[in-house]
Amino acid sequence: MTDDRAAAARAATAFAARFGREPEGVWAAPGRVTVIGEHTDYNGGFVLPVALPHTTRAALARRDDGLLVLTSVQHPGEDAEVAVAGLRPGRPGGWAAYPAGVVHALADRVPGGLSVLVDGDVPVGAGLSSSAALCCSVALAVRDLLGLELDADALVDVARRAENDFAGAPTGILDQSASVLCTAGHALFLDTRDGTREQVPLDLAAAGLALLVIDTGTTHEHAAGGYADRRRECEEAARRLGVGLLREVGDVAGLAPLADGSAEGDLLLRRARHVVTEDARVLEVVAALRGAADPRAIGPLLTAGHESLRDDFAVSVPLVDACVDAALAGGAHGARMVGGGFGGSVVALVDSGGVDAVTAAVTARFARERRPAPRTVVVVPSAGARRLA
Ligand code: GLA
Repeated sequence: MTDDRAAAARAATAFAARFGREPEGVWAAPGRVTVIGEHTDYNGGFVLPVALPHTTRAALARRDDGLLVLTSVQHPGEDAEVAVAGLRPGRPGGWAAYPAGVVHALADRVPGGLSVLVDGDVPVGAGLSSSAALCCSVALAVRDLLGLELDADALVDVARRAENDFAGAPTGILDQSASVLCTAGHALFLDTRDGTREQVPLDLAAAGLALLVIDTGTTHEHAAGGYADRRRECEEAARRLGVGLLREVGDVAGLAPLADGSAEGDLLLRRARHVVTEDARVLEVVAALRGAADPRAIGPLLTAGHESLRDDFAVSVPLVDACVDAALAGGAHGARMVGGGFGGSVVALVDSGGVDAVTAAVTARFARERRPAPRTVVVVPSAGARRLA
């Protein structure tokens, strides 16, 4: 969480040290935390994320030798240098696949080459979309630097294609949309089926509340495989119900045909039930935030979202469940896992004066599990991707 001016100066200095010249600009894009609406995006459903104050910064300059040269402050010794015309999935791999994927998606509009330095503070592997922040910062930078005609939706799409087609991560569109489209002081209410959106004011501090993000420090080794499995299960449930996307099933009653008495039918019913009820929870949370109601009212909806992800969608893990339970026992109004699951972070809605008590409760619980104290941060809904310098 570096302020924008300091972040831009730090990236420019690192760029000059690496490339022996000043960058032509510095851009930033944030990670995200989902307030509600998890595993709905690839089902055409609703999401409600906020942007983190944590960003990835990209400092760029054009080159005339046709090369893409990528360097990262967080990955010393892992620079990549590839001809723009020679970019292929897997080449380069590792962290560099993400920015390379962005340039690959735009390759026919990148004359010459690019020098790219990235620097960031979005926690990696914490379910807070560090990869989307990386892709979106580079996508915005390339667009601005080369004067490409790409609107916000096209930028989101370039970043998503970089992750899906080049880096091989089968994400939906939640993370990239949040990173590009979020605005400070608001949650982004997005209909992923048609892209319609609304900035919903979210001034929790004025209501004496805070969003506390707790990084459990675990990432399940099967996270990628588990995510792909859930996507397949949702597609199969939609197929059996005769709809293109589970979003089109209006309510839980519409899932009845899945219950054919088989174990597989029961599993698909539970997966689809999560999606349908989560869409409804997003709408309820948005309605509560739009109205004058006390935002504490959304707490139970967040907790219900966690229970659905845990029991029906089966993407939580015991340590994350323990974290949610401890946060609630410590006084949180609601708490839930964030992102794709199988580890990562928990978000809790807490009274501003109760942050310490919730943190202490979670830390004590982690100590009982013989785990190090988790990293916590109070998140203020922050700005989406932008030019810093
Ligand atoms: C990951 C994916 C997103 C979304 C979430 C779950 O973050 O990248 O597209 O599916 O999981 O809501």
